[in-house]
Amino acid sequence: MFLLNAKLVGTATILAISLTAGSAFAQDDYENQLKARKGQFNLLALNVGVLGGMARGNVDYDAALAQAAAENIVAIAAINQMPLWPEGSDEMSIDDTRAKPEIWDNFSDFASKWAAVGTAAEGLPAAVGSGAEGIGPALGPLGGTCKDCHDTYRAPRN
Ligand code: HEC
Repeated sequence: MFLLNAKLVGTATILAISLTAGSAFAQDDYENQLKARKGQFNLLALNVGVLGGMARGNVDYDAALAQAAAENIVAIAAINQMPLWPEGSDEMSIDDTRAKPEIWDNFSDFASKWAAVGTAAEGLPAAVGSGAEGIGPALGPLGGTCKDCHDTYRAPRN
């Protein structure tokens, strides 16, 4: 009887410890996903910035660099988003993210907004290869796909 009680107490203690640990470490659990998804967005922004600079004439046109940036955007847009957005990694649950909880209520809509980046990027490498004047018209629709998702699923900076 004593043995049984000791066992029960032991189990209860272990359960209590693991529950506490679970909430204490939730933030760390998502560290890699937060880094990865922010990283891909920063990569997108960097390459969009290279093209935007040339389109505005702030930077000299460079066909090889424009081509590289456009191809990078196509490649980044092809990353499947599923592993980067685990449930519970929203801004209401953890720090250091601006991902709204609505993402997980509408994940297929979120995924289709991501797919729109790829569609808008398809013609980019060909469009930017022959002069700065080709960049703006191709970049505009791409920028629209970023905004479309941010307006719905990204919380304002706080
Ligand atoms: C499908 C939705 C979606 C699309 C499309 C999208 N974003 Fe985002 N973006 C987000 C969300 C959500 C965050 C917040 C991520 C976080 O904080 O965990 C974000 C964050 C960012 C950040 C901040 C990253 C950081 O370091 O905190 C930048 C920069 C960014 N996006 C640029 C872009 C650009 C440029 C495009 C288009 C080429 C784009 N995004 C398209 C949803 C999207």
